[in-house]
This record gives sequence, C-alpha cells and structure tokens, in this order.
Amino acid sequence: MNAMSVSSPNAIVALVRSHRAPKPSFFVREIPIYGDAILAPMDGFSDLPFRLICRELGSAMSYTEFTNADGILQKKLPESVAQRLKFDASENPMTFQIYHQDPDRLVDAAKRVLELEPDIIDLNMGCYVKDISERGAGSGMLRFPERIERYFSRASKELPIPVTGKIRLGWDDASRNYLTIAKILEDNGASLIAVHARTRAQAYHGNADWDAIAEIKQTVKIPVLGNGDVKTVADIARMKNHTGVDGVMIGRGAIGNPWIFSGRDRDDVSVDERIVLLRRHLALNLDFYGPRGGLIMFRKHAVKYINGLYGAAHLRVPLLTAESVQEFDDLLGQFQERVDAHEQGEHDRGETDQARERSMAL
Ligand SMILES: Cc1cc2nc3c(=O)[nH]c(=O)nc-3n(C[C@H](O)[C@H](O)[C@H](O)COP(=O)(O)O)c2cc1C
Repeated sequence: MNAMSVSSPNAIVALVRSHRAPKPSFFVREIPIYGDAILAPMDGFSDLPFRLICRELGSAMSYTEFTNADGILQKKLPESVAQRLKFDASENPMTFQIYHQDPDRLVDAAKRVLELEPDIIDLNMGCYVKDISERGAGSGMLRFPERIERYFSRASKELPIPVTGKIRLGWDDASRNYLTIAKILEDNGASLIAVHARTRAQAYHGNADWDAIAEIKQTVKIPVLGNGDVKTVADIARMKNHTGVDGVMIGRGAIGNPWIFSGRDRDDVSVDERIVLLRRHLALNLDFYGPRGGLIMFRKHAVKYINGLYGAAHLRVPLLTAESVQEFDDLLGQFQERVDAHEQGEHDRGETDQARERSMAL
C-alpha cells in the first residue's frame, strides 16, 4: 500500500508539502503532528481504506471509529473489533478511540489494546446516540465530570502513550460545561482535546459554535482541535483564524471529498480524477472487507463521490443497490461516458456561441 500511495500524484503533492514545511504544526505530548487538517473519527466511514485515502491527500493523523471497551475486553478480541483497530504502518500517528461509561473499564480496555501498538488512545465523549449517551457513555460522560477525571488521572499515569479526549460542548443548553471538562482533561494528564462545537441535545442541528472552541483554546495549554461545519478549504483557515486552534478536524466535509486535505475543493477536482479515486477506494475496500462486504460498505461513499455531478441523481439508486462489483463498475463506466458526452456537448456549444459572436462582430 505504501508503494502504491507514494507513486500517486496526490501522495507526491503531500510529500512535497511536508518537505516544504518540515516543522510540526503541534505535538501530542512528544508526538509531532505534521499538518493541521485531520479526518474526524466516524463510525462506518473512517475505516482503514478511507483513512489511507485521506492520509495520502494530507490528513495529518488517524483516528479509528469509536470502539466499545466491552468488545475490547472480551476474552478473544471479536473479529469485528479487531477490524476496527487494524491500521497500516503508514498511518502513524495512529489514535484508537474507545468509549464506555465506566472509567476503570476504559482504562482496562486501553491497556489491552496496547499490544496492537497504537500511538495515542482517545476517549469518545461526544456520541449522541440515545442508547450510548443515556447509559453515560459518549456524550453521556459529560454529565459525570468525576468519571472523566478518574479515567484521565488513571490512564495518563498507567499508560505509556498519550491519552486524549473528544468532547461536545455539554449535554444540553442548560449544561454547557465544556470549560470545566477541558480543565479536567488538562489537569489530569490529557495531551489534546478535540471539540465538536455542539451539545448532545443539538445532535447535528444548528451551527457549530466556534466561539466556544476559541474559549477552550484560551483556557488550556494543551493542543486543541476544532470540529464542526468545516466543509471547504477556506473553512479550515476560517476556523483557525476564528479560534486559534492547533488543528481542524473534518468529518462530513471529507466524505466523498477527501481532496479537502490537499487544499482542493469539490469543484477543483475533475470528473475523471474523481472516478479514478472512487475506483481506487473501492479496490481498497474490497481488499479490506472482502468482495461482498467491501461493496456494501462502499456504496455510501460512492454516492457522496458523485454528488452534484451531471446525471448523479439517476445513478444514486442503481449504485446503492448494485449487487456485484461488475455491475457497479459497469454503472460507473456508463456514468463516465454520459458525463464526458455532456461536457463535450457543453464545450461544442461554447465554441458555436463564440463563432456566432465572432460572425456577428464582423
Ligand atoms: C456517520 C458519522 C459517524 C460518526 N462517528 C463518530 C465516532 O465514531 N467517534 C467520534 O468521536 N465522532 C463521531 N462522529 C462525529 C464526528 O467526528 C464529528 O464530530 C461531527 O461529524 C462534526 O464534524 P463535521 O461537521 O466536520 O462533520 C460521527 C459523525 C458522523 C457523521
């Protein structure tokens, strides 16, 4: 995978950029982070294939999807858990993200996964899903600062690697306790805080509150990653300027649009380039999950890659229901032909218009 990634144009761009800027953007304890845009952990999306694509394009570090400490602590690591924690050597620094409501069980789980050699362990304090948050895990932890304190004070002393946390602003509007939580993390040995600037009650509604991220950055000395509503390359700089954060974490804005990490927006990427990457991402998926699982897991990415392109609306359902890789590939081939024909038509029309204008000017 490394050889393949280094030979691609995107990897070369990333390499050139990193050589131009050899200074780390910030450190997670002693670990240097080169770059300030980072793919967010996303259940069902930020798996090994997608992370590799994003890293190759410039995402500065990797986070796994969140993983339940109970799964990690089973006698034999279940295959589904092992798969979530697989990573490629090229991904370092690699962060494993875990969740649970019990601080001691979290510490045990963190110790157990050390054998897989992650660089950093992150605690999820942001998941808003009802059955997780209402039992006190994910964003539910924000209601129990003493549990957060216990986890970080133990984990930072008992683990040899840095521990970090990802939070929301609080449980709801009446309990926006992000500054208290940020201080608890810092005072108990956390090495970084990532902040999704919404409360649990907001889920994904309303705008992310970047002012709150700025307040956290002003309150703690450890590095802060800002997160929420970064959709374009310009947004990355906007968030950094607005908040002063060390890095920006990008979730939904990277799905179907990993070029954001290389400083390019959706419109800067040609249809052909888009389809080449889409096919490569599918190949990585098939390799990782096997032919059937790989295709099923890829469908949701595929529809995001083609979003907004000419004729994409007609392709959506067929792509989402394609039963075989062959069928999927044929659909993509037909789509590419239609887009090429459309673009040629536009081009020809442009030439005719110009010719007409020229003849009228004569
Ligand atoms: C499909 C999906 C899955 C997510 N899974 C996780 C997760 O496993 N761990 C986590 O900390 N956050 C998770 N999140 C939250 C994102 O990391 C991020 O905080 C959120 O999407 C806001 O950032 P954005 O506006 O850039 O998308 C998930 C978000 C989405 C959309």
